[in-house]
Amino acid sequence: MTRITFITADGAETTVDATVGDSVMRVARDANVPGIAAECGGAKMCATCHVYVDEAWFDRVGAAPEDEQDMLEFAASEARETSRLSCQITLSPDLDGLVVHLPESQI
Ligand code: FES
Repeated sequence: MTRITFITADGAETTVDATVGDSVMRVARDANVPGIAAECGGAKMCATCHVYVDEAWFDRVGAAPEDEQDMLEFAASEARETSRLSCQITLSPDLDGLVVHLPESQI
């Protein structure tokens, strides 16, 4: 079991339990965390699951690979160095406590 904290653009925090092997997007959707549209269902085709990884966690999560960066260019909110598609972050035990920030808009 791991925990993830989602922080909206206006500062509201939601912490949920998650299972190792799940994607951050899937955890958010299953827990009804607002702010993750995930229109393509995790196929890396929509950029509506965009998150900003908290800087304290970014080294552990890692930067988006090139093909993911290409998709992030289509995100509704500006892509930053810490941007990731949450459907492409798979939870591992060392991500217990992960914090991600939600952009203002996904669409
Ligand atoms: S859910 Fe569509 S890119 Fe992640």
